[in-house]
Amino acid sequence: MQYFPIFVDTKELHCLIVGAGEVAARKAELLLKTSATVTLVAPWACDTILRLAAEEKVILVTRDYQPNDLQAKRLVFVATNDSLLNAQIHQQAKALNILVNVVDNTPLCEFITPSIVDRSPIIIAMSSGGVAPVLLRYLRQKLESVIPQKVSLLGQFSEKFRETVKARFNSVTKRRYFWEDVLDGDVAEQVLQGNQSKAEQMMHHKLALDEHDSGKGEVYLVGAGPGDPDLLTFRALRLMQKADVVVYDRLVSKEILELVRRDAEKIYVGKARSLHTVPQDEINQLLADLALAGNRVVRLKGGDPFIFGRGGEEIETLVEKGVSFQVVPGITAASGAASYAGIPLTHRDHAKSVVFATGHLRDNSIDLNWPMLAQPEQTTVFYMGLTGLPVICQKLIEHGLPQTTEIALIQSATLPNQKVVTGNLSNIQQKVAEAGIQPPALIIVGSVVSLRDKLNWFKQSA
Ligand SMILES: C[S@@+](CC[C@H](N)C(=O)[O-])C[C@H]1O[C@@H](n2cnc3c(N)ncnc32)[C@H](O)[C@@H]1O
Repeated sequence: MQYFPIFVDTKELHCLIVGAGEVAARKAELLLKTSATVTLVAPWACDTILRLAAEEKVILVTRDYQPNDLQAKRLVFVATNDSLLNAQIHQQAKALNILVNVVDNTPLCEFITPSIVDRSPIIIAMSSGGVAPVLLRYLRQKLESVIPQKVSLLGQFSEKFRETVKARFNSVTKRRYFWEDVLDGDVAEQVLQGNQSKAEQMMHHKLALDEHDSGKGEVYLVGAGPGDPDLLTFRALRLMQKADVVVYDRLVSKEILELVRRDAEKIYVGKARSLHTVPQDEINQLLADLALAGNRVVRLKGGDPFIFGRGGEEIETLVEKGVSFQVVPGITAASGAASYAGIPLTHRDHAKSVVFATGHLRDNSIDLNWPMLAQPEQTTVFYMGLTGLPVICQKLIEHGLPQTTEIALIQSATLPNQKVVTGNLSNIQQKVAEAGIQPPALIIVGSVVSLRDKLNWFKQSA
């Protein structure tokens, strides 16, 4: 982030604009939306500036710029046609530690002005750092169309009740819960419909009702999908944005973690650098303790929490401890990997059933119902099977699948570093070793794998 976004209090902000043409007028009009004092200096002025000066909204000094014009100013816009003069003013302002912006000349800008969506008191400011102005305009249009103008009313309503709510709830967390309830519910709806007095009545009622707030937390068991943040569900995202604490494991991608509420505490319980995992019963206990302490806890798991995710065990403990919870499904690795590798899990000509199995190796073997897995016209997906690949291939052949049966390994499915290796039960181990496939990787066995040649669409894949 090259530019740090901040909002500056303009109550006692003295700004100088050098130049008084149309470009300067646009800056002046923007500044006049605030309480800043605006002085313009230029030998001549356009009609807009003359009018603003006549209305005493700006101070117009009609002469050439002089260095002492910078005195007592904190922000300077330079908008003259003289590039040499612009550069000089930039130098002089910079030497005095005054923030200066030479309009349309990014290298001579100590600050840049963002694109603004104005729903005062709510202001959304966006910037591309000058590198993608069209994209920025496009995003602004989108926001303008989805954020109702009446959000302003909601902002004013919040301001009006801010102190009352603060006095009513002594902890930041309780205040946040209360406001989230208000903004998600009927009160906000009434404000947006312009029914101010009804909304105020409801707000007072709500403040009285919440008098005996139990302060109990809740656990959200959330499936984060296979890695691509675009594959999160809306519900997952909404709960992630509400969380006080997030307990996450190894398969949750960095990009997804960035979508969690910024102030939430993040606790990692996957394999640490020491290669130790937090034991499952400790995780179960941790979730219960955090919720009983009044937190909204998001337990974020890769894929779907109920598919090889031990989500069931975690909520069994919550039930025992009387902690309330919700479960949010996620896209499991098999769906993500199959889609992004162009391998349909079922197909009328290839597979009439699909089986998900664990390929986890214990004492050099995998305890599975092999005759059931080695069926023709079936797709079998193995999770956690990379290390056990030799055993999987050998067992499937032993139980009747031809050595020529197609098989695919998909590493880091749905992510930019996705790699796919295909082969058959007799040559796949060598191909996987050559490609250097690393965990997490998923195995798909069955003739559906042959469809990849035609259906592969995800171009990052190998
Ligand atoms: C403990 S299981 C968790 C499965 C998860 N609950 C799900 O529904 O996808 C971990 C295994 O899932 C598979 N896996 C998860 N994410 C993956 C990804 N992005 N690419 C390939 N395999 C993945 C791998 O086989 C990995 O060893």
